[in-house]
Amino acid sequence: MINTILPLFRCPLCGGEFEKRDSSLVCAKRHTFDIARQGSVNFVPQQKESFYKKELFESRAKVFEAGVFAPVIDVLTREIDRHVPKDRPVLLDAGCGEGYYTKAVCAQREMTRIGFDLSKEAVKLAAKGPKTSFFCAADLKNIPLADHSCDILLDIFTPANYAEFARVLAPDGVVFKLAPRAGYLKELRRAAEHLLRRSEYDGGQVEQYVKEKMDLIGQLAITYTLPVAPETVYHLARMTPMLAGVDVDALDLSAVTQITIDETLYIGRVK
Ligand SMILES: C[S@@+](CC[C@H](N)C(=O)[O-])C[C@H]1O[C@@H](n2cnc3c(N)ncnc32)[C@H](O)[C@@H]1O
Ligand SMILES: [Zn+2]
Repeated sequence: MINTILPLFRCPLCGGEFEKRDSSLVCAKRHTFDIARQGSVNFVPQQKESFYKKELFESRAKVFEAGVFAPVIDVLTREIDRHVPKDRPVLLDAGCGEGYYTKAVCAQREMTRIGFDLSKEAVKLAAKGPKTSFFCAADLKNIPLADHSCDILLDIFTPANYAEFARVLAPDGVVFKLAPRAGYLKELRRAAEHLLRRSEYDGGQVEQYVKEKMDLIGQLAITYTLPVAPETVYHLARMTPMLAGVDVDALDLSAVTQITIDETLYIGRVK
């Protein structure tokens, strides 16, 4: 896959173009990044461990398999089709995690799908399975893609870097940003409220910043509550940063039988 999309990439160290030599990408200044067996590339080999560990991404994969976020995929697919013409095919998923959205949005549409994440573990999981998308480890602060190379940018529950988004997006490229609203996973926060410093969440700050940085062409709430199996509740509790620092194994989650998803989708162009 890397062969066909190589012109979209640039060296994160010097901005130079890449050439593929054997199983490496090499720029004119000889900065070299190896292509792993699954086809992914690590552009941040010095990266240290973070909150986002392998177990967390495995829990995320289980939650996605259970269909908890399937309605979100439907809304994203509809909105991408509404706002981006079919002949603008390059999708970048910034902070893609284990690649659920990268692979699933607009499943019927032919696209060049690129996902990147700071976590090597996430990228390793994402790169498993059919090679319909390209995944790499990279930092939002320095996206290894050429200027104006992308048409659609997904920013899903990941901190944004609007300067880099503006650089890599085509002039009419569109950002689809998802952020939690007040009701997001409220049942889990209620179950852990005695352990949380703040069990309330209000997306107001994010919204203000989004509006400073983007000209919005759309904004909608995605809100639903669905019944969930105990196993899914456990994996949701393990994956969400909202319960960061809480010992999930010691938490009594038996009363949680349904889960609320409550998110805002911001659609816009970076100012
Ligand atoms: C809450 S997760 C969301 C993952 C995915 N977008 C999803 O919704 O399933 C946030 C992700 O952002 C990634 N991340 C955080 N800081 C990053 C950075 N500076 N560059 C790239 N990825 C980053 C984390 O590794 C993590 O996978
Ligand atoms: Zn270089």
